[in-house]
Amino acid sequence: MLNVVILAAGKGTRMRSNLPKVLHPIAGTPMLAHVLDTARKLGTAKICVVYGHGGEFVPQKLAAPDVAWALQEPQLGTGHAVLQALPHLSAVPPAPTLVLYGDVPLIRPETLQRLIACAGQNRLALLTAHLDDPKGYGRIVRVDGKVVRIVEEKDADDAERAIREINTGILVAPGAALARWLPQLGNRNAQGEYYLTDIVAMAVAEGMEIATAQPDDNWETDGINSKNQLARLERIHQRNIAEALMEQGVTLADPERIDVRGELICGKDVFIDVNCVFEGRVELQDGVRINAHCVIQDAVVGPHSIIGPFARLRPGTVLAEDVHIGNFVEVKNSTIAAHSKANHLAYVGDTTMGSRVNVGAGTITCNYDGANKFRTVIEDDVFIGSDTQLVAPVTVGKGATLGAGTTLTRDAPPEQLTVSRAKQVSIPGWKRPVKKKKE
Ligand code: UD1
Ligand code: MG
Repeated sequence: MLNVVILAAGKGTRMRSNLPKVLHPIAGTPMLAHVLDTARKLGTAKICVVYGHGGEFVPQKLAAPDVAWALQEPQLGTGHAVLQALPHLSAVPPAPTLVLYGDVPLIRPETLQRLIACAGQNRLALLTAHLDDPKGYGRIVRVDGKVVRIVEEKDADDAERAIREINTGILVAPGAALARWLPQLGNRNAQGEYYLTDIVAMAVAEGMEIATAQPDDNWETDGINSKNQLARLERIHQRNIAEALMEQGVTLADPERIDVRGELICGKDVFIDVNCVFEGRVELQDGVRINAHCVIQDAVVGPHSIIGPFARLRPGTVLAEDVHIGNFVEVKNSTIAAHSKANHLAYVGDTTMGSRVNVGAGTITCNYDGANKFRTVIEDDVFIGSDTQLVAPVTVGKGATLGAGTTLTRDAPPEQLTVSRAKQVSIPGWKRPVKKKKE
């Protein structure tokens, strides 16, 4: 069992935003939510988030009932922050405590499992990294290969600043020892803060062993302090998602040009062209082709369907087998059965569509009267001519044809041609008006 403390009280001044830093999104969800998801994967007894800047807005936005929230006000340093969490952690049985950061969102659970394993029940374990440019970080001071303390950049002398092994900040400490050390921390240092890092020297003084582990990739422990760093980690995260999709057999036209902001589930032989955005939970079944520039949210795309280019599938779209949704077609809260096609310029909303329906260019389901939404039912084998409006609630019977330009306000009977446009007339001898000559 494990306690997890996530530090998220800092201000994030360099984001230059009214939104608290830890709520800025990576892949569409707050960076703090990524850390929470990772913490939940570790077999955790209790998770406590230390919050401060942004106040109650942070717990409200996260809406995580399994999490304890500890307010840190004012923010007197990382050691002071962890101290605020202690009363919220489960003390019986005594469990190691893992410290994570709300602004370090890409840490891998596998890396943490390794750190937790090397901590065991009675060691202090630090996640460290070797950097070419260690500037700004706390340095790991070793004597005869053994860690003896951490020194912050601002408190370090020249020899210590030359050390390239840095403190990522992530650590695991035995629960009882942590509770003993934290109240003893002082703040006589360059920043006048209670440093969590000072527990290392305390542990060494007690004869406790200090273990270290490293992440597989250094970006795992990168923090976000600015919009530039936010964008950088977003790209790394998206690249990781793209690589995982390709591992599963998805073909991506360009792994640098896909954005997944949620869960994308793919069958066999799925192809995704450039610049597509997936939001919420999207399922692409076997043989689906997504052409360039599509936005797809909370939708199911049936086997061998073809979407786009430039299509938008909104929440509640469920497409069966071999459905074609072409350019500038929007589908929302609709089910479309097998082999139906809407290939150009259409809006299909709140619709139940049968099989083998052909939706002509410019077709619009008028589902909204300004107050309420209504459904459109289009049965099997219907042919809808171009530039047709279906004013819901309305049903088009099986095999019906709607003439181009029809505004359908009543149900269309099966198998017949229904057309509502005015009869075409031609006027013989008609002359165009001409400009009057000036006198
Ligand atoms: C800290 C470490 C440093 C390490 C670095 C890695 C200490 C003393 N130093 O330094 O060794 O190399 O992280 O990035 O721990 N926070 C609170 N409450 C506070 C202070 C901080 O919640 O009172 C949170 C911040 O929101 C932030 C994190 O703790 O997410 C780290 O704080 P920060 O002041 O940025 O630490 P560093 O000075 O970078
Ligand atoms: Mg600081």
